[in-house]
Amino acid sequence: MNHAIEIKDLTKKYGQILALKSITLNVPVGTIYGLIGPNGAGKTTLIKALVGAVKPSSGHLNVLGMNPINDKWALRQKIGYMPQSAALYEDLSAKQNILFFGKAQKIENLNQKTDEVLQFVELTDRANDLVRNFSGGMKKRVSLCCALIHSPEILFLDEPTAAIDPHLKLQSWNLFRKLANSGVTLFISTHLMDEAMHCDKVTILMNGEIIAVDTPQKIIESGKTVLTIKDNGVITTRTIASTPEGLANELLKLGLRASITEISATPDTIENIVLNIIKKNQIH
Ligand SMILES: Nc1ncnc2c1ncn2[C@@H]1O[C@H](COP(=O)(O)OP(=O)(O)OP(=O)(O)O)[C@@H](O)[C@H]1O
Ligand SMILES: [Mg+2]
Repeated sequence: MNHAIEIKDLTKKYGQILALKSITLNVPVGTIYGLIGPNGAGKTTLIKALVGAVKPSSGHLNVLGMNPINDKWALRQKIGYMPQSAALYEDLSAKQNILFFGKAQKIENLNQKTDEVLQFVELTDRANDLVRNFSGGMKKRVSLCCALIHSPEILFLDEPTAAIDPHLKLQSWNLFRKLANSGVTLFISTHLMDEAMHCDKVTILMNGEIIAVDTPQKIIESGKTVLTIKDNGVITTRTIASTPEGLANELLKLGLRASITEISATPDTIENIVLNIIKKNQIH
């Protein structure tokens, strides 16, 4: 499989603080890769190392076949980076901000491309308004446009959905999926555990260490499901594995009895499961 990003034994120290401890992971081309972890886990540090903004203390990084530090400027033309706090000019309009970032790259038809990305994030009608007067979510979308303007092959998004409302959040994930479907690789950090569901694969990071790497489906399956059964008017519950086989086995045991009038299955939420994985690692 083709990897857009390869990380091997990456360690980053800030003085005495060990922000990343021997991180190894690969990201296949065209996937949405989620980096999930609580505050201070090392998410921003890892993204900054991958875009060449932070020099690793040791280890190997390969992004689109390049070394982020040695090939920084060549790499910048092929990747988009949306920092955790929007770096926009408040006294410029949305469109002027995007044009400004676009001019730093050699882009044909920059004006037209700017209109296209504004349309993509549904901000066409606010294109000429000053960013100063935008809401937090709108600023995030302008920031996404700036990261997208040069049609990058990889998009690094540091907490793109933090502090935005549920509707806009869903809209953002739909946008990310559209980009992935067009072949773009997305590397997205979040501290919101439920967002794992939108990713193809997630790494859970804590205190600079990887504590789990899996698909959201496998993470869900590592949880439990509560089965509620109404038999002869009596309601009982039992806890089973969240795998398809777990449910099938339990239903087989119950059989097809007329006295059973209701069965419902409630699986653990991905948020609970991820929080439990984190909690377990805090104890050890
Ligand atoms: N420039 C820096 N100098 C010193 N320590 C730093 C620096 N940047 C980050 N750190 C430390 O490295 C660790 C990881 O920080 P980082 O910002 O990467 O975490 P994060 O997962 O992005 O957190 P958040 O969810 O709050 O954004 C923290 O202990 C932090 O204090
Ligand atoms: Mg961060």
